[in-house]
Amino acid sequence: MSSPRDSILVTGGAGFIGSNFILCWIEATGAPVINLDLLTYAGNPANLSSLDGDARYQLVRGDICDPELVGSLLREHQPRAIVHFAAESHVDRSIASPEAFIRTNVQGTFVLLEQARTYWSQLDQAGQSAFRFLHVSTDEVYGSLGKDDPAFSETTAYAPNSPYAASKAASDHLARAYFHTWGFPVLTTNCSNNYGPFQFPEKLIPLMILNALEGKPLPVYGDGKNVRDWLFVEDHCSAIRAVLERGRVGETYNIGGNSERANIDVVTSICDLVDELRPQSGTPPRSNLITYVADRPGHDRRYAIDASKIARELEWKPAQQFESGLRRTVRWYLDHAAWIDSVRTGAYREWIAKNYTERS
Ligand code: NAD
Ligand code: TYD
Repeated sequence: MSSPRDSILVTGGAGFIGSNFILCWIEATGAPVINLDLLTYAGNPANLSSLDGDARYQLVRGDICDPELVGSLLREHQPRAIVHFAAESHVDRSIASPEAFIRTNVQGTFVLLEQARTYWSQLDQAGQSAFRFLHVSTDEVYGSLGKDDPAFSETTAYAPNSPYAASKAASDHLARAYFHTWGFPVLTTNCSNNYGPFQFPEKLIPLMILNALEGKPLPVYGDGKNVRDWLFVEDHCSAIRAVLERGRVGETYNIGGNSERANIDVVTSICDLVDELRPQSGTPPRSNLITYVADRPGHDRRYAIDASKIARELEWKPAQQFESGLRRTVRWYLDHAAWIDSVRTGAYREWIAKNYTERS
């Protein structure tokens, strides 16, 4: 087979991070993207409606667990890289029903790696050395930190605590093995909690924005003092581009936002922003809606990222401060009522009822 073309194959590109990535990628590079996405509850083709009619973008609805489909897409489009986002991504759902996480995150990543390796092995030498498989993973594979522990680095031992984290850890190990065994050019990124436009409102930040707007209770798990590092989604997208362009194959890169915050502080900041941007005279501040509910089983206490390797080797650092990123995010949700209506389907309402009725 000849050298690959200029296009890339993105998996899970109709989800939150994948759709932001495709929009940023086409704007930054102008190069074509094929998006393989099953369109589960988390996938929304409307996130990419600004690319309707753009010849550089093509959506293929399909499953990464389907080897014939993946193999034929690779042969047809001959991409120069795969950026693999597709996953089941919500910890609470992995506790309620773990099976889909094993299927998509473990089996699906295996199918992709295997089909990609076959495709890569048939490229000419220049094509092989240019090809990249970028596996997008999470800091949750490292487990939970104590208050004063050093942040996760690329050499921190894996200690996944939820079925979601365990399934992502398994996929990271498969990616590692494909490099080690066959020299297949894998890059792995482990990032912290993303936030920004197009995030499905089952995750903390968009859920709290919408509930605050609608005057509903704001359900904080446990004592609210669990800490996450927050990464603005566009910063994550620029980091992935840097890793794809300049990362050393076989390496892993941690990506963080330098923004550790306790959940209760995040929720309070959201309340203050909604009060400011949508004032309601005569009603109490939105922070009065905060309601402590039953904790998540096995709830990791703290995540923190040491992003010094990507800063040193690839000269990447986040551009967005948490406060300005959160303001942009709240504004985006306030300005996109139609998008919100379109994602809050019957299945979404069932999930919200199930998760929060059991906790209250
Ligand atoms: P998401 O849940 O918003 O989107 C996942 C996408 O994958 C959806 O479009 C869905 O339709 C698609 N998908 C699911 N199963 C599929 C299958 N079998 N075949 C093809 N497509 C399938 O997820 P996200 O928040 O955008 O996360 C993207 C990636 O980043 C995931 O791998 C996740 O583990 C990782 N990650 C996310 C975060 C975060 O804060 N959101 C943090 C660290 C790492
Ligand atoms: P989440 O957005 O689900 O991301 P992750 O579990 O992958 O970090 O949750 C972020 C934090 O917010 C986590 O500590 C759990 C907490 N949380 C709540 O307190 N209430 C909620 O309704 C949700 C969804 C999360």
